Amino acid sequence: MPIPKAELHLHIEGTLEPELAFALAARNGVDLPYADTEELRKAYDFDDLQSFLDLYYGLMAVLRTEADFEELADAYLARAAGQGVRHAEIFFDPQAHIARGVPIGTVVEGLSRALDRSEERHGVSTRLIMCFLRDESAESAMETLRAARPHLDRIIGVGLDSAEVGHPPAKFKEVYEAAAALGLRLVAHAGEEGPPSYITEALDVLRVERVDHGLRCVEDPALVERLAAERVPLTLCPLSNVRLRTIDVLADHPLPRMLDAGLMCTVNSDDPAYFGGYAGDNFDAVREALGLDEERLRTLARNSFEAAFLDRDAGEEAL
Ligand code: ADE
Ligand code: ZN
Repeated sequence: MPIPKAELHLHIEGTLEPELAFALAARNGVDLPYADTEELRKAYDFDDLQSFLDLYYGLMAVLRTEADFEELADAYLARAAGQGVRHAEIFFDPQAHIARGVPIGTVVEGLSRALDRSEERHGVSTRLIMCFLRDESAESAMETLRAARPHLDRIIGVGLDSAEVGHPPAKFKEVYEAAAALGLRLVAHAGEEGPPSYITEALDVLRVERVDHGLRCVEDPALVERLAAERVPLTLCPLSNVRLRTIDVLADHPLPRMLDAGLMCTVNSDDPAYFGGYAGDNFDAVREALGLDEERLRTLARNSFEAAFLDRDAGEEAL
């Protein structure tokens, strides 16, 4: 039995498996620049975050209707449940869809169809977090928040993703203030490829409650001390870090050192269809490559419920 866990760093568009991509392409009359699923999988050899993002945004062309988003989310929830996920806080990228002519309502309604049935079907509770693309303008983020207003009963928070370097968190100060005023929870990717100072900015300028990745904090001992003292949750994604070459091999991952330093680490899958594994696969991988014992794996699982945006009882029940 896999350890019950919450997944807090998961891009729903990153769960698009090649088989579903081709099925949706056929259904929607979209031409893909790959002959078949095998050729597509061969393209998953990334040099860095940008090379992944180019393919990831391109493949989103197959997602057009509510039914497509429903199918995508239901497939993820079924797989996650099989790997012990009991609660999932799911990111989506509205701007990537709006730019292709797919309204935010189509995305949210489609995803919600799957999410609304998830507890009953898969035993997984869910939340939705909309991410702003940090390589787009602050005005575009604000416009996206405005477009999301009619759907805020379905969205629990906002995040910040896409190409990190050169797009520091402070660029989005105003939109985060507006989101906070609407009662939304706040997270942001920081310190994946970007420097430790982006983590500090996400905390101090955007006032985020969790940091997505946060990996590069290890380069700044004072920051590590602060994150540990404030128990700021970090949503680490070990297999993603290897596939995007943030680290060379999993055996070099700083997770054990980070736990030793008292950091509130969690383990997540990021974009599992692209990076070789879902949440449970990430747990298995760190256990094997880093020799984490049962107690440390249980700590990671416990942290995931503690850092989740749900009431305490739900997490304790699941554990
Ligand atoms: N969007 C999807 N996956 C991402 C990642 N790992 N970093 C930044 N943006 C992303
Ligand atoms: Zn991510």
